[in-house]
Formats: sequence, C-alpha cells, structure tokens
Amino acid sequence: MSRTSSTLLLLFVLNAARIDSTREPAAEQLFKYFENESKQSTLTTSGGNPVADKSNILTAGERGPLLIEDLIYFDEMQRFDRERIPERVVHAKGAGAFGYFLVTNDIRPYSKATLFHPVGKKTPLVARFSTVIGERGSADTARDPRGFSIKFYTEDGIWDMVGNNTPIFFVRDPLMFISFIHSQKRNPVTNLKDFDSFWDFITLRPESTFQIMRHFSDLGTPDGHRHMNGYGSNTYKLVNEEGHPVYCKFHFLTDQGVRNLTADVAKRLEADDPDYSTRDLYNHIASGDFPSWTMYIQVMTFEEAERFRWNPFDVTKVWPENEFPLIEVGKMVLDRNPTNYFADIEQVGFAPSNMVPGIEPSPDKMLQGRLFAYQDTHLYRIGVNHKQLPVNSPFRSPVVNTIRDGPMTYTDNQGGAPNYFPSSFSKRSGCASAEQSRYRVSGDVARYNSSNEDNFSQPAMFWRDELSDYDRTALVNNMADHLSNAAPIFQDRMVKNVFEVDTKFGQMLHAALIRLKPKHLF
Ligand code: HEM
Ligand SMILES: *[C@@H]1O[C@H](CO)[C@@H](O)[C@H](O)[C@H]1NC(C)=O
Ligand SMILES: *[C@@H]1O[C@H](CO)[C@@H](O)[C@H](O)[C@H]1NC(C)=O
Ligand SMILES: *[C@@H]1O[C@H](CO)[C@@H](O)[C@H](O)[C@H]1NC(C)=O
Ligand SMILES: *[C@@H]1O[C@H](CO)[C@@H](O)[C@H](O)[C@H]1NC(C)=O
Repeated sequence: MSRTSSTLLLLFVLNAARIDSTREPAAEQLFKYFENESKQSTLTTSGGNPVADKSNILTAGERGPLLIEDLIYFDEMQRFDRERIPERVVHAKGAGAFGYFLVTNDIRPYSKATLFHPVGKKTPLVARFSTVIGERGSADTARDPRGFSIKFYTEDGIWDMVGNNTPIFFVRDPLMFISFIHSQKRNPVTNLKDFDSFWDFITLRPESTFQIMRHFSDLGTPDGHRHMNGYGSNTYKLVNEEGHPVYCKFHFLTDQGVRNLTADVAKRLEADDPDYSTRDLYNHIASGDFPSWTMYIQVMTFEEAERFRWNPFDVTKVWPENEFPLIEVGKMVLDRNPTNYFADIEQVGFAPSNMVPGIEPSPDKMLQGRLFAYQDTHLYRIGVNHKQLPVNSPFRSPVVNTIRDGPMTYTDNQGGAPNYFPSSFSKRSGCASAEQSRYRVSGDVARYNSSNEDNFSQPAMFWRDELSDYDRTALVNNMADHLSNAAPIFQDRMVKNVFEVDTKFGQMLHAALIRLKPKHLF
C-alpha cells in the first residue's frame, strides 16, 4: 500500500470512531481536536521549512551510519532534549482552568480594589490547584494540603491570591519554611521520603499541631479539587478610597460542598487513578458542569488586632468566625479548560507579591517571606520575561515601566519609549490612588523567638468543637498509621504534644500506636 492510501485509511477509521459520548471528555480530547482539523497542512521544521519524510532517518547506505546533515532529526531531537522546565520546588503536581470572578456584594467600605466593585463586575482569571510535596508525576490523592491559586486579570494589573485549602499553616516563621519542606522531601542519601525527618521536625515545632491535625483528618485527602475550600491563610490588609486600612483574611468556599476521601479510598486511587483530581476537574468543565466558589472576607480593625487574644498575624491560627464573621464578596466560576496544559498551567506563575491598589501586605511574617520567594523562583523556573507569557501577562493593564531586554523578549520591548525615569521624553506619571497606606513601625531590630506563642489552644478547640467521634477516630488512625514508621523517640514526642491538646487525644494516639506495627521493619 502506498503512503497516501494508508493515510486515507487512517482518516476513515478515525472519522468512523469519532463520536463516542460514552467516554469521558478527557479521553475524547484527540477526537475532538481532529473534528476541527479540516484543512490539510504540510509538515515543517521549527523554521517552517517543508518536510518530505518525517519517519525515516537519513543514513549513508541502507544499513549505514547517520549523517549530521539530517537537519530534520537534529531540529526535533535538540528541541526534545529541552522540553522540560524545572518543576515547581513545591506544588509541582497540579491542574488548572480559566474562568471569571463575579462581584455580588460591594466591599468598597473596606477596599478600593477595582475588581471588587460594582456589583455585577466580571474579572477573568486562571486558577490552579495542587498537592505540595510530591513531584510533577505524583498522585493527586496524596495526604497533603492542596494549593489553591487564583490569578485575577484586573484593570489594575494582576492580583494573585495564592492560598491553600486550609486556613492555617504548619509554621509561623518563614525561615522555618525551607526546613519544613526539606523534612518532607526525599532523604538526601536514600532518596526516600523519611518518616523520621518529618516527625522530628513536626514534634520540635509544636506550632504545627493544628495543621497536622487537619492534615491527618480526612480533610487531608479532599475528594478532588472541586470539593474543597480555598483560603488566603495569611493576613492581608485592605485599604479603602479614604486610605483607611483594615486587616483581612480571604476565604473561597466551595459551592460543590466539601467532600473528603477516606484514607483507604485515597490510597487505592493513588495506584488506580493517580490523576483523579485532574481528571475530575477537566471532565466536569468539559461537560458544562462548571465548579464555583463563593468568596468571603473576614475583617479585623487595627484596634481589634491590638486587643485580639492571639497574634492576628500568626498563620498557625484562625480568626474565629463567630467573632469575625464572613462577609460575602462574589463568586469564582471555572468554565474553560486550558487549551494547552504546558502553556497555560505549567508556565503560570502565581506570586503573593502581585497585588493591586486596595490590597496590601500585613506584618504577617510568613506573608512577608512569601513576597520575596515566588517572583524569585519564577525568574529561575520560567525565566526573566515570564510576565510576557500570555497566561501571566497583565493584558488588561498595559505595562509601562523602565524594565527592558533579557532572554526571550517576546513583546515589542516597549518600542522607542525612554528606558529611564524621570525623562523629558515621557508623559508618564504616578497615580495618586495607587499610593500605599502609611503605617508606623517601632521596636528593636532583632530575631524574635516566635516559638513561645500559644501552640495548643486552637488545636484543642478543633478537637473538641469541630470533629465528630468518627472524625477523631479517623484522625488518630491516619496519624498513627504514618507515625508508627518513625523511630520511637518521635512517636513519644508526638504523643506528648497531643496530650497538650486533649488528654483523650493523647490516650487514643498512644493506644493506636501500640496496636500498630511499623510497616518497614527489615
Ligand atoms: C514562607 C512561607 C512560604 C514560602 C517561602 C513559599 C514558597 C513557595 C514557592 C517557592 C513556590 C513555588 C512557586 C512556583 O514555582 O511557581 C510555592 C508554591 C505555592 N505556595 Fe508557597 N510558600 C510558603 C508558604 C505558603 C503558604 C502559607 C501558602 C498558602 C496559604 C502557600 C501556597 C502555595 C501555592 C498554592 C503554591 C503553588 C502555586 C501554583 O499553583 O503555581 N505557600 N511556594
Ligand atoms: C471545534 O469547532 C467548533 C465550531 O467552530 C467549536 O465550537 C469547538 O469549540 C471546536 N472544538 C475544539 C476542540 O477546538
Ligand atoms: C525559643 O524559645 C524556645 C522556648 O522558650 C526555646 O526552646 C528556644 O531555644 C528558643 N530559640 C531561640 C533561637 O532562641
Ligand atoms: C510552644 O512551643 C514551643 C517550642 O517550639 C515551646 O517551647 C513553648 O512552650 C510552647 N508554648 C506553649 C504556650 O505551649
Ligand atoms: C471532612 O473531614 C473533616 C475532618 O474529619 C470533617 O469534619 C468533615 O465533616 C468531613 N466532611 C465530609 C463531607 O466528609
């Protein structure tokens, strides 16, 4: 059979098999694409030069060696050799989608940010959900917090809300973050996840107890990305048109309802369907069942912050909702899958430092530490001009600055506009409404020890008031299952820490550990 007739036969087979609505949308992607590829096109090299034969390598004689003049082969292979960019140092495995934010309640009394008013305003966005510790190919249903990132393309440029599915975090000092992550990544010698380093760190930092309890409850294994809440977690500042500031927390509550997986189901899915959450998100959006989240803020005045019985800038603690009620802001809807995963989701860079007038940092140490880290890693991971990529570009607010050049300049590099400021050749000026709020700082410059702050009273409230008997048993069993693999010294320390939370909790964990045998005995 000639090459042409075999191509025709392939076309015929694909056409006949094209529509199969019994298969999930994710499985039908190639058929959907093919449906629209109407026009015949010529294969080319990356330089656009037509290619005659893309299946047979150029050789000297039928069984002879290759030739360096096989430009088609070298063109493809060199590009293939460079296909990957570094994966994210954390949150490497994720899924994302596009959508919009719709304002339902005007919060102008608190924030002048233009995306929050008037009621009915829609702002385009991209969202990404992720696990934290696993590599890019790791399972979606791992016990881990889930990242919850939103990039709002506002009229005032990008606002990135880079949160998690938990309102709190493990540590409260950014200098601790690096060790906290290392203790869960692979052991430098064995290249295995190391139970001892994990539990050593956790038990030495009792401020992690609250988050560890959420982590080992069934909340630690959400049922896909649609069935979880998102939280800014850190404390931010909102500033209104009069320049009046308040502190604030961001919440995105799922309209699909919170659903968790039990440990058994999560573990089974790790083997059977490691991309469970990615698949679930893609298929629901592809079939028109658009997931949504309602956004709320909690507000705390500066006076309330001074009187608050906890440090309002301590990310290991929540602001109780009965004292700081949720105020509705709007709705986030995801209605469009990425057209290309790498371009849209792998290359997206979310950074807490991408803020708009009306939203500012608070003194939350973890937030301040994050303001530096994300842009810094993007310069390395995606490159110095990553903000020119379509998914990262503030396309609704033209960039007017004096920054130029760098590898892969993709735009017109701001043409002939002066690259210095002030300049007699520029009509560019500052914008008074973008001025950041003033605040006073005082105190000695020092490294303040934050480990002495109350570690256990909120974990105790969580245990007593939020968990059912079922939840408590699941939490204890899930924790013991993991902890039993650590050396006895770390088991003892953890039992001692949870006794500080609640005597019953300590007794239950102790009993569960006695029942369990470590899995990795030699
Ligand atoms: C000092 C504390 C922290 C530091 C230094 C830090 C640093 C980082 C870095 C370097 C990345 C990789 C970013 C990339 O490659 O694009 C990242 C990702 C991420 N972090 Fe953090 N992180 C911290 C705490 C937190 C907290 C408290 C939250 C949640 C409230 C959070 C949420 C996320 C999310 C959601 C991502 C993934 C973003 C995406 O989807 O691309 N991180 N973090
Ligand atoms: C195919 O084309 C139709 C009509 O233009 C469009 O609605 C649809 O989104 C396209 N599908 C894909 C997968 O590009
Ligand atoms: C911080 O305080 C704790 C508890 O008092 C203490 O154990 C620790 O050594 C202190 N750390 C530093 C660096 O001073
Ligand atoms: C909190 O944890 C630190 C150790 O990081 C400990 O020294 C301190 O006593 C704890 N504070 C309370 C109030 O339990
Ligand atoms: C999810 O897990 C948490 C913690 O165990 C529990 O409080 C909550 O009720 C669970 N939700 C569902 C719907 O199972």
